[in-house]
Amino acid sequence: MGLPENPFSMSFDHATEATLQRFILPQIIWKLKKWLGLGMETSLSRSLEHIDKYLSNIINSRKLDLLNKQQIIGSSETTTHDDLLSRFMKKKESYTNEFLQHVALNFILAGRDTSSVALSWFFWLCTLNPNVEEKILLELCTVLFETRGDDVSKWVDEPLVFEEVDCLVYLKAALLETLRLYPSVPEDSKHVINDDVLPSGTFVSTGSAVTYLIYSIGRMKYIWGKDCLDFKPERWLSADGNKIPTNLFPSMQGQGFV
Ligand code: HEM
Repeated sequence: MGLPENPFSMSFDHATEATLQRFILPQIIWKLKKWLGLGMETSLSRSLEHIDKYLSNIINSRKLDLLNKQQIIGSSETTTHDDLLSRFMKKKESYTNEFLQHVALNFILAGRDTSSVALSWFFWLCTLNPNVEEKILLELCTVLFETRGDDVSKWVDEPLVFEEVDCLVYLKAALLETLRLYPSVPEDSKHVINDDVLPSGTFVSTGSAVTYLIYSIGRMKYIWGKDCLDFKPERWLSADGNKIPTNLFPSMQGQGFV
């Protein structure tokens, strides 16, 4: 079943793919394609224009909302929105539209597919592991019962607050376990700007790149044990199951790993 087309989303995907090609292709090739008006380069600037316009509309209307609310209530603390963008605006309203646009774009780029991919794997793993799903639901009901009472209709009135989310330790362990097996970012690279030595003693020279494979690290028997391929949120929990210890790998400390 298809979802309705979303022009912003389409432009965004298009621009992301075109930008990725610039990473993959040698500079001379993509510059030539841009110059000749070939491939994805042709519509990149159109997509970027669309994204800019979309974001600037949101920022302008959000600024107007904020201003109206302040005039009515006379306080900078009250607003109908409580998302990341509004928090940036409330903190220091002299941020330029361009700056806010970059912030919003950065968050969408960094947070959209990472979160949706993680949640897709999470729900898939829950359907395969009903015992885990049951524990998540039990924890959620226990917390909501304590914070919102026994009227179940009140449980879904408002989104969870930070204090409630903090109590969902098993859920957090299940999300960590999901990201261990199916990391949304399976590999990541760093570029070396000055000669350096890694904690393991490995020398890295200026101009080189270091890539670490998050996907592989999450599946190493050496680190996680024989059951490294099993989905077991419990592996993240303390013996009493009440918290996630800050230091999960004491045996690796001092070996350049942690
Ligand atoms: C499951 C969800 C997410 C995963 C798996 C994830 C993963 C990552 C990874 C691997 C990095 C690179 C870290 C590094 O290179 O040291 C990163 C950076 C970043 N992420 Fe996320 N991320 C997620 C969600 C989000 C969300 C929701 C936002 C914002 C709303 C966000 C904002 C950022 C930003 C701004 C950076 C760059 C930080 C920097 O360069 O200092 N991420 N993320």
